[in-house]
Amino acid sequence: MDRDSHLSRKTVLKAALAAGASVPIAMAGVPALARTARDSGGSPAFTPACDDGDDPTPAQTEGPYFKPNSPRRTSLVDASTQGTRLTVTGYVFGAACLPIANALLDFWQADTNGAYDNSGYRFRGHQFSDAQGRFSLTTVVPGLYPGRTRHLHVKVQAPGRPVLTTQLYFPGEPRNNTDTIFDPELLMAVRTNGPAREASFDFVLNVPQTPGSGRSDRSADRPAGRGHLEGGGGVPGR
Ligand SMILES: [Fe+2]
Repeated sequence: MDRDSHLSRKTVLKAALAAGASVPIAMAGVPALARTARDSGGSPAFTPACDDGDDPTPAQTEGPYFKPNSPRRTSLVDASTQGTRLTVTGYVFGAACLPIANALLDFWQADTNGAYDNSGYRFRGHQFSDAQGRFSLTTVVPGLYPGRTRHLHVKVQAPGRPVLTTQLYFPGEPRNNTDTIFDPELLMAVRTNGPAREASFDFVLNVPQTPGSGRSDRSADRPAGRGHLEGGGGVPGR
């Protein structure tokens, strides 16, 4: 199934990016990233996730529970939070597979019992991708509620670009087969690590980029401000 190769390419690219970002001294023995190989005229060792006709990450309905002005934070839990711990990590890429720095990611989800906090901001938080386009969210596995399969909500926005509103899903969920909103393109790769879950997903935004520039948008150089969404993403949902 194409979905499997799709995921594996992303996983390989992510691993390469992570290796390059965290242990550059060890890169002598690690194949170069595709974009590096392309720039140098060599044969790419890795195919970028979005360089072979893969579409940008599809949009999905916002649903009824989005709230603007979420706190800026990468963790939605504390020591007393109930539920199976979940980390979600990945990258934000543009149309040429280059990472997008300072992209806004605004997550919201149900708690472990399937309830949204509509009076406060529990399980709501926004963050910005780092210089390598990476994000990391610490939360819990969202509970089920009537009519839907298990999912996370997120808005993703490159600096100065339109907001992508979408949802992320978990493999192997029985309700994936009956939820009419579910889209397999939005499945995270999820693995179990002891009592916790570790998920990964890379967003591909429809943001023009110049391959080889290493930069998607000059505005990414600006300091991260609060709430890009307030200008265009706070449309009330249903
Ligand atoms: Fe929801």
